[in-house]
Formats: sequence, structure tokens, C-alpha cells
Amino acid sequence: MHTLQSKLPDVGTTIFTVMSQLAVEHDAINLGQGFPDYPMSADLTGLVYKAMTNGHNQYVHMNGLRLLRERLSEKIQKLYNTDVHPDSQITITPGGTYAIYTALTTILQRGDEVIVFEPAYDSYIPNIEINGAKPVLISLQYPAYNIPWDEVKKKVNDKTKAIIFNSPHNPTGAVLSKEDIQQLRTVVQNTNIMIVSDEVYEHLIFDDIKHQSMLRYPDLLERSFVCFSFGKTYHCTGWKIGYCISSPELMKEFRKVHQFNCFSCNSPVQFALADYLQNEEAYLRLGNFMQQKRDYFRKLMQQTPVKVIPSHGSYFECYNYNEFTDEADYELAIRLTKEYGVATIPMSSFYKDGIDNKVLSFCFCKKEETLERAVEKLVKSL
Ligand SMILES: Cc1ncc(COP(=O)(O)O)c(C=O)c1O
Repeated sequence: MHTLQSKLPDVGTTIFTVMSQLAVEHDAINLGQGFPDYPMSADLTGLVYKAMTNGHNQYVHMNGLRLLRERLSEKIQKLYNTDVHPDSQITITPGGTYAIYTALTTILQRGDEVIVFEPAYDSYIPNIEINGAKPVLISLQYPAYNIPWDEVKKKVNDKTKAIIFNSPHNPTGAVLSKEDIQQLRTVVQNTNIMIVSDEVYEHLIFDDIKHQSMLRYPDLLERSFVCFSFGKTYHCTGWKIGYCISSPELMKEFRKVHQFNCFSCNSPVQFALADYLQNEEAYLRLGNFMQQKRDYFRKLMQQTPVKVIPSHGSYFECYNYNEFTDEADYELAIRLTKEYGVATIPMSSFYKDGIDNKVLSFCFCKKEETLERAVEKLVKSL
């Protein structure tokens, strides 16, 4: 019998898996986990097929296919007017989550502190703790989920190694503003604080808002690891492929960790993505496409008594239900799945201390008919 001392004794199964599993068991419509239920581009799957049949099936460079990094560099120049060198500043990774984990593992030493805003995507805190560091938690200001900068300034100290940002934000749909960037500049100036910026929803931003990527700001990029996911951009979350961008100095260290973990990502997919990146429309139209889904879902939800907390980006929109029940959000989410056939995510699961503002998060990147069927069921239950 082996005795194992857990490195993550407090960690259970991620809420996304718990709710998706429950949805399967109860044949419920899954508006919890963030994945599209409509097909991805046949052109892109065709390019993967072509890459495979053309023999691109062996390891590519550990930093990622050079052509893909070149095309990303061109895209970044066009979108954010920033020079990012394909050789020294871009690494292709097996997904955005891996890029975040690798960034944190690269920089953290035992006893370091990392500021995390809650509600937080659920991988951040375990990623910090497994590296012997301490998450310093700050609640975003409910209900708009703004960053309380005064509190950030109070909590920054000599041990603060990094701050994690996620814009557009899962699960609230909140986005960083230009004022946030100014505040951030003030906080980090004359410090060695690094930034881990989770921008997997880069293109899923609505209402003509400009995405405040760290890539726009060379002074911030210098101290940042900026993490992206092709899965979110091209409706293929199961592909698990993404990339990280940083300064040459930080990227050198990132690659030391990456080298002996993943080493090299799926080759044919990288050839295909390099080709497909030339189709600018495929990512430029994504915001409008997803905004239409948000608007359609929001309109349908007006038939229920829940109150919208407006989303400005991502796959998600949150709704408050406290006017008609004081049931705990976790209980309600379970009951809706089991009894009424709609799976959602209870917001308290994104807070370490389980703060419950009576809010459920809904994923709207679904076919219209899926959204209609789900809301029909919700109308009967809420
Ligand atoms: C905020 C956030 N970061 C990262 C990811 C994961 O991206 P990937 O699937 O590329 O690892 C997700 C997926 O849901 C997410 O919502």
C-alpha cells in the first residue's frame, strides 16, 4: 500500500467536469462548461487533414512551428501594433491552461504571493499552491465585477510576485478598461511584479469594446506572460492548443519548464493553423457572431424571473436569482440539472471561501435551438 502526501489536499474535481458529468447522467442541456455545440470551420479541419496526408506528422520545433509563430507575430502587429519576435517571444503550448500553469511554475518560489481576483477561473489557485506559493484573494466588486484597485494597492507587498488577469473574464464577462491599465501601471511601477494575463477570450468581446491586451502595452508586456487559446478562437476547445507571449528574458525561462513537460505540440494542427491565420475574417468576425448569441440568449431569458448581470465578453453571462429564492447557488444548480434538465455553473465555486451572491453562470455559445430548449425548461422551473 503506497502512502502519498497530496500536493493539493484541498482540491476536488473541477466544477466544469462535475456539472458536465451531472448533465450527462441526467440527460440535461449543458449550459455550464464553455464549449460550442455547433460545428467548427470545415476549411480548418480540411487543412489538418491536408497537413496529415502531406506527412506533417513528426515533432516540430519545441517552441512551435516557425511559420505559425511568424503568422502570430504578423497578427499581433496588425491588431496591437506591437513587435513580438517569433523566435524569442512566442511559444506554442497545448492550450491556454497549460500556458498559465507553465508561466506560474516558471516564476514562483516557495512563499511568493500572487494576487488573484475572484470569482477566478478554477485552475489559478491550485497552480499557485502546487508551486508552494500563496494566492492572495481579492473579490471583484459585485455586481459589475470591477477591480477594487485600492484593495490591490493595500495587498501588494515585497512578497508579491505576480498578479493574474483574465479579460474577457470567465465567468462574469467583465473586461479590463483603459483606466484599469493605468491603475495597473501605477501598481507595478518600481516593482518586480509580473503579470500573468489570461486572454483566451481575446476575440470574444462585444459592444464595440476594444480588448485591452497586455500586448498593446510594451511596458507591461516586458513583465507579462500573455496566454491564448486557439480552441476558443476557432470553436475547437477539444484541440487543446494555444500559445504564450512574453519578453525574450522571461520566455527563455518559460521554455526551460515547457521543454521537459510538453516539449512539442501537435504538428499537423500547427501547420493547419499557420495557414488558417491568413483568413483574418475568421477571427475578426467572432465578436459579432458571439454577441448575437449573447443577445439572443438574454432576450430568451427575459421570460424567466432571473436578472441579467451584463456580459461584455467570453462565452458566459451571469444571472442573479435572489428575488425568487434564497436557495444556495450550488443546490439550485444541482436541482436545475437533475429535475429540470439544464446544467449551469454556480458562481460560489469560483470563490475559495464559497461566497454566494445567488448567481448562476450560463454558457451561451450554443445553437439557437439549444438555447431555446434550455430556456423553455428554465421557464418551467424558475
Ligand atoms: C478563463 C479561461 N482560461 C483558460 C481556459 C482554457 O483554455 P484551453 O482549453 O486552451 O486550455 C478556459 C477554458 O474554459 C478559460 O475559461
